[in-house]
Amino acid sequence: MNAPVTAHPCNGIHHHEYLETVIDSVGDGVIVISREGDITLFNPAAEEISGFSRRQAIGSPFERLFAMERALIEMASKTIRTGITISDHENVVVRSTGKVKPVAVTCYPLIRSSGESIGAILTLKDITYIRELEATVRQADRLSTLGTLAAGLAHEVKNPLGGIKGAAQLLERELGQGNELCEYTGVMIRETERIDHIIRELLELASPRGLNMQPVNLHKILGDILLLQKQAVADRNIACVSQFDPSIPDIMADEALLTRLFLNLVRNALDAMGEDGQLTVTSRVLSDYRMAQNERHSRMVAVEVADDGPGIPGEDLENIWTPFFSTKSTGTGLGLTICHKIVAEHRGMIKVESDPGHGTTFTVLLPLVQ
Ligand SMILES: Nc1ncnc2c1ncn2[C@@H]1O[C@H](COP(=O)(O)OP(=O)(O)O)[C@@H](O)[C@H]1O
Ligand SMILES: [Mg+2]
Repeated sequence: MNAPVTAHPCNGIHHHEYLETVIDSVGDGVIVISREGDITLFNPAAEEISGFSRRQAIGSPFERLFAMERALIEMASKTIRTGITISDHENVVVRSTGKVKPVAVTCYPLIRSSGESIGAILTLKDITYIRELEATVRQADRLSTLGTLAAGLAHEVKNPLGGIKGAAQLLERELGQGNELCEYTGVMIRETERIDHIIRELLELASPRGLNMQPVNLHKILGDILLLQKQAVADRNIACVSQFDPSIPDIMADEALLTRLFLNLVRNALDAMGEDGQLTVTSRVLSDYRMAQNERHSRMVAVEVADDGPGIPGEDLENIWTPFFSTKSTGTGLGLTICHKIVAEHRGMIKVESDPGHGTTFTVLLPLVQ
């Protein structure tokens, strides 16, 4: 009986070429090693992970090419010796072109249908991205635990603090104006106010709250902040420049939170500058800005707050978002943590660029449409 004529399953491609295409298309690195330990197959993903080209790899002894990676060599030789499959998703790294990449590895025995072992197949998955993601999640976990703890503490401290401040004010009144002991009650009142400020910021950070989304005129917010802050620095020689793109429409946002956000950034900029300086606030529309891979294209508004102060030293850059990181004697170190949270709640992004000696620019990206 004749088999019905069907399309060739390999789409007309020669069988050998077909298999090669399949292996080359696998996103994980695939390396095949002969019984003698020589590399017989090396796909493009393996080139990418290892930094070796296929030409360098094929025919080379695996042990020589991967001489630095003892863990890999041991896995391969054990699989060839014993015929068992070995996986390691934790401990293996591949050093390629100066970088150390964490990889998840599985090593399968290569066995003919007759049962004869003819080598091993290694699959390597680059897990750099997964590791980074894990680190971010750990950081977020830590922050949220910290937040809960801080909120609890803040509530506990708030009432007794009010009591202390009230008592100090009473005492001050009893002492009467001009009494030299008022210097001490003054310190007590000032310091309780300072603690109160920290606690209010902490509560702001830790308390879950809904967003009050409304059409918001960004330029009005920014203009008001600049107007107010200009008065605060009237005794210094600081120029406030604003460059707004008039085509920006109202955006859906929480006005109180955005005010808080830009006020924090402007205050930081003014804190950073000395007697002379220039603060520049710019707004523009970025069309088709892509937030992250897989996320829909969306139009974003970019607001930049730039100063020409001393800048942020490289070693501090990664710490500025951390709660309580402050280089100021009276800082709380919560301002930027709050900014970060507000931006995230608006599904935006905030980034910083700093050139020590030349100033700092904070850029906030907010979606035009939520
Ligand atoms: N524009 C800026 N220029 C220089 N350093 C800055 C600027 N903005 C923030 N920083 C640094 O980041 C730190 C954290 O800022 P922030 O979270 O607002 O806390 P705080 O202002 O209370 O110190 C500041 O203490 C400062 O060292
Ligand atoms: Mg601040």
